[in-house]
Amino acid sequence: MPGAGVDVPVIGVGTSRRYNDPKTEAEWAQLRASVARFAELGGTLIDTAPAYGKAEEVVGRLVDELKIRNRLFLATKVGAGTVAEGREQIEQSFRNLRTPVIDLIAVHNLRDAANQIATLRELKRQGRVRSIGVTTSSRSGFAPTATAMGQAADEYDELEAIMRREQIDVIQVDYALDNRDAGDRILPLAQERGMAVMINLPFGRGRLFEATKDRPLPDWAREIGAATWAQIFLKYIVSHPSRPIAIPGMAQPRYVDDNLGAARDPLPDAAMRRRMEQFIDGL
Ligand SMILES: NC(=O)c1ccc[n+]([C@@H]2O[C@H](COP(=O)([O-])OP(=O)(O)OC[C@H]3O[C@@H](n4cnc5c(N)ncnc54)[C@H](OP(=O)(O)O)[C@@H]3O)[C@@H](O)[C@H]2O)c1
Repeated sequence: MPGAGVDVPVIGVGTSRRYNDPKTEAEWAQLRASVARFAELGGTLIDTAPAYGKAEEVVGRLVDELKIRNRLFLATKVGAGTVAEGREQIEQSFRNLRTPVIDLIAVHNLRDAANQIATLRELKRQGRVRSIGVTTSSRSGFAPTATAMGQAADEYDELEAIMRREQIDVIQVDYALDNRDAGDRILPLAQERGMAVMINLPFGRGRLFEATKDRPLPDWAREIGAATWAQIFLKYIVSHPSRPIAIPGMAQPRYVDDNLGAARDPLPDAAMRRRMEQFIDGL
């Protein structure tokens, strides 16, 4: 991982929605078991954000209870409209995550990017943050500058402009077997700029599972060592030449076992990747 200078395994945990607000001990137990299993299998990256309800606090508590902080790469975000608001939110993230050093903070959905990146750079110089970055999760989102002018925008245009302008370590973007735009323009630019890539919405939430529901795995799944649909979808992502890190939402230990299995060889080559694209486009 640029900035932090550590290797991060290609499957991490996403915590939006399912880590937002566990209420019962059974819900806590399921999340605790998922995080414990993830670390046991050698996983390191957990992605969270102040915008995900209580997810930061939940992650902080679980990591503390499991005593695994030094085995993890904790990533969160800042989503604020001003420098002061951003600084305040970041200080709360340190408290929520119960750590003096956060491995990655990224500007959430490019909001107030120039100002927030300046703050993150300062924190990086102080050694409180190891890597810095930006995120988006939809090409058709409303990019901040365009929104200010009252226009709908291509959010990837804004992301590309930031990637060319700023020295950052990591970008996070949506990419999936049925949502491939970022693979053609954003991921190659990240490679060119020496930035690591994290992929959100690797299953398009439920979209890819819905599209393949009730279908048997294709014959070629065996050729890439995929035993489940989830492994097919993740192997497609992690075999992109930019070698991205996918962060599927996983709040069940069986998902952790399944999804981390996707990192194992063999991975699809270029010809197989085209075959996978044709398959999904044909559904
Ligand atoms: N702008 C941003 O920065 C941004 C935006 C969106 C997401 N993110 C990050 O990206 C992460 C991933 O996005 P996401 O969680 O919304 O969507 P996702 O990863 O595309 O889908 C996650 C859902 O897929 C299902 N799933 C996971 N593993 C499975 C398996 N092995 N077999 C069958 N089903 C499986 C689960 O559904 P059920 O729980 O329903 O069973 C899970 O909630 C987020 O958690 C967040 O950390 C960032």
